[in-house]
Amino acid sequence: MSNTYNIMMLPGDGIGPEIMAQVEKLITWINDNTDLTLKTEHGLIGGCSTDAHGVPLSDETLEECRASDMIMLGAVGGPKWDGVEYNKRPEAGLLRLRKELDLFANLRPALVFDALIDASTLKPEIVRGLDILIVRELTGGVYFGEPRGIEDLGNGQRRGYNTQTYTTNEIERLARVGFDLARKRGNKVTSCEKANVMESGKLWREDVTALHTAEASDVTLEHMYADNCAMQLLRNPSQFDVIITDNLFGDILSDEAAMLTGSLGMLPSASLGADGIPGVYEPVHGSAPDIAGQGKANPLATLLSFAMGLRYSLNQGDLATAIEQAAQNVLNNGTRTADIIAEGCTQVSTDEMGDALIDDLANNSAIKNAA
Ligand code: IPM
Ligand code: MG
Repeated sequence: MSNTYNIMMLPGDGIGPEIMAQVEKLITWINDNTDLTLKTEHGLIGGCSTDAHGVPLSDETLEECRASDMIMLGAVGGPKWDGVEYNKRPEAGLLRLRKELDLFANLRPALVFDALIDASTLKPEIVRGLDILIVRELTGGVYFGEPRGIEDLGNGQRRGYNTQTYTTNEIERLARVGFDLARKRGNKVTSCEKANVMESGKLWREDVTALHTAEASDVTLEHMYADNCAMQLLRNPSQFDVIITDNLFGDILSDEAAMLTGSLGMLPSASLGADGIPGVYEPVHGSAPDIAGQGKANPLATLLSFAMGLRYSLNQGDLATAIEQAAQNVLNNGTRTADIIAEGCTQVSTDEMGDALIDDLANNSAIKNAA
C-alpha cells in the first residue's frame, strides 16, 4: 500500500479543465503501467466554486486538500468574476489555499529547452541553456499584510492601501529553502528586495545575510535590488542560479523569467510548506479565458507541474525525470501547441500534446513497472 497516493485535482476556471484532463490521462497511464497507484479526488476552486458554493474555496474542499498527498491545480479567474467583491474573487480561493496550508515556498523553475530557443523573444545566445529557479515567498508580504482596504476620504476622494510586512521567521524559512536548493544546483543565491526604499526589504537583507553566515556560508550569496534584477534577467540571465524574493516581486520576476523561456505555457511551479503538508502544483500561467475550450492551450506547464509533485510530494523522482525527458523529446520532435509553434513544426491541440507526451513516455521502457 505504500505505493498508493491520493491526489486532489482542482481544475479551476478557463483553460484549467482542458489542461488538467491531460494530467488525468497521464495518471491513468501511470496506474496501468507502473507499480504506483494514484487515486484522485476532484474539487472546485476559483470562479466555478463561487458560482456553485458562493465562495472561491469551500471549507470542505480545503479539508479534502489537507487530507491528500498532493494537490494539482489548473488555473483560476476570468472576466466573468471581475465585478465580484474581493474575498469572493477566484484569486481569493488560490490565496486561501496557499495561506491555510502555509505553503510559504513557491518554486518556479525557468528552463530554456534547446528546441524552444527560437520561441524566446531574446537572442538565442542570451537564453541558451538557461536554468533559473525562482523561490518566491508565498504566504506573506503585501498579499496578506494588514491593514488593507479602500477608505472614503470624502470630497469624492478615496484611499487604497496595503501593507508589506515580513518577520524574521518568514524570511529565514524562505531563505533556508533557497540555500538548500542552491546546493543541489549551481550553489548560488541571489536575494532580491528593495532595501534602498523599504524597511521590510532592509530586514530581508539583514536576515538573509545573518542566516547565510550562520547556516549557509558554503553557498555564494548576492543581494540585488528587485528592479535591477528585472533588468539583469533580460541583460544577462545566465548569471542567476536561485533567486529568492518576496511574494510581490516574485510574482512579477517569475512572469518575466517565464518569457525568457519562450512561453508562459511552459512554466511549472510547486508551492511547498512544512514536511507532511501536501504541496500545490500548478502552471505559472493563468486561466487564459480568451482561448478556453478551444483546445489551443499548452498543457506542458501543467504536466511539468505534475512531475514536480511526483518529485517533491510523492518522492518519485525517477518518474518525474522521465516525464520531463518526455516533454523535451516531444518538443525535439517538432510537436508544438500554438503558443510555441515554429516553422517546420507540427501544430497540435491540447489533447494531442498530452497524448504525444504519454506516447513518448510509453516508449521509455525503463520507467514502465519500475516506478
Ligand atoms: C500567480 C498568480 C497569482 C498571484 C494570482 C492568480 C492571485 O499571478 O500565481 O503568479 O498573484 O500570486
Ligand atoms: Mg503571477
